[in-house]
Amino acid sequence: MMEIAKVRQDFPILFQTVNDEPLIYLDNAATTQKPKQVISAIENYYAHDNANVHRGVHTLSERATKQYEEARETVRAFINAASTKEVLFTRGTTTSLNWVAQGFGDQVVEAGDEIYITALEHHSNVVPWQQLAKRKQARLVYLPLTDEGSVDVAAAQTVISSKGKILAVTQASNVMGTINPIKELAALIHAVGGYIVVDGAQSTPHMTVNVQQLDADFFAFSGHKMSGPTGIGVLYGKEALLEQMTPVEFGGEMIDFVYDETATWAPLPYKFEAGTPNIAGAIGLKAAIDYLNEIGMTEIQEHEHQIMRYLLPKIQEIAG
Ligand SMILES: Cc1ncc(COP(=O)(O)O)c(C=O)c1O
Repeated sequence: MMEIAKVRQDFPILFQTVNDEPLIYLDNAATTQKPKQVISAIENYYAHDNANVHRGVHTLSERATKQYEEARETVRAFINAASTKEVLFTRGTTTSLNWVAQGFGDQVVEAGDEIYITALEHHSNVVPWQQLAKRKQARLVYLPLTDEGSVDVAAAQTVISSKGKILAVTQASNVMGTINPIKELAALIHAVGGYIVVDGAQSTPHMTVNVQQLDADFFAFSGHKMSGPTGIGVLYGKEALLEQMTPVEFGGEMIDFVYDETATWAPLPYKFEAGTPNIAGAIGLKAAIDYLNEIGMTEIQEHEHQIMRYLLPKIQEIAG
């Protein structure tokens, strides 16, 4: 059993009253509050170790680089990616999805191809695909849903054709909370030679994610929805696909050699991380993952189910 009173003590923002009542915060799908462990990790970094990463040979730079790369390893283990080369730090889910649509979508989608999404998607998993479809004269196709509000796999099978190149779908709906059958959908799109892009913004904070078990080609999520800081997120991609994908941003950190007219890219994962990254954000995200792991993702999921079992009948008692 999760000790709620103890967990609550970890969140300093809850030590206040709003409208003369103790603060109860329910807007976690939009963004979560941060435990003191995350806040102090960020403070410690700025107070003791702040320096740029991968550049300096001085002590602080070595410390900052070590912590930044430890954060990448923590993310890798959390989603069970095969290698840290497959873990890219981004600004959040929105950036991650845009990178895939532009850096990968532009390479594999041609005129007349089909891109599948669903009516469950957040705008950040709709608009980048609309734009890709426009750029390539491809067709954007919405997959059918079941009455419960998840993707209907049997119906999807009849819709997905040999023209299918990308299936972009959320693992957990931010509106309904329904969980989509990612593994089955991955099998359907892989069978026609296409790729699955998973929006994990609402699943990663609430359940154990295993990108290899899901067979996700790309998987995106945000730090701030899982007790981590804003401005940091992750794009996971299978190594071979990230090798194929082109960077969307260019500049320092992501280059190998720069000639007068052209340049070559650094190896994965640095090829995508142009400019000074959000070092404190990555360190804060690591602290958030350590915090969630300490409680246990299974415990967290069970606690949420318990709340759901309590809430639904109570809501149904309210007339209208
Ligand atoms: C399912 C889903 N996808 C994507 C996003 C976008 O996340 P961000 O604003 O952190 O980029 C959200 C945010 O609400 C979401 O709920």
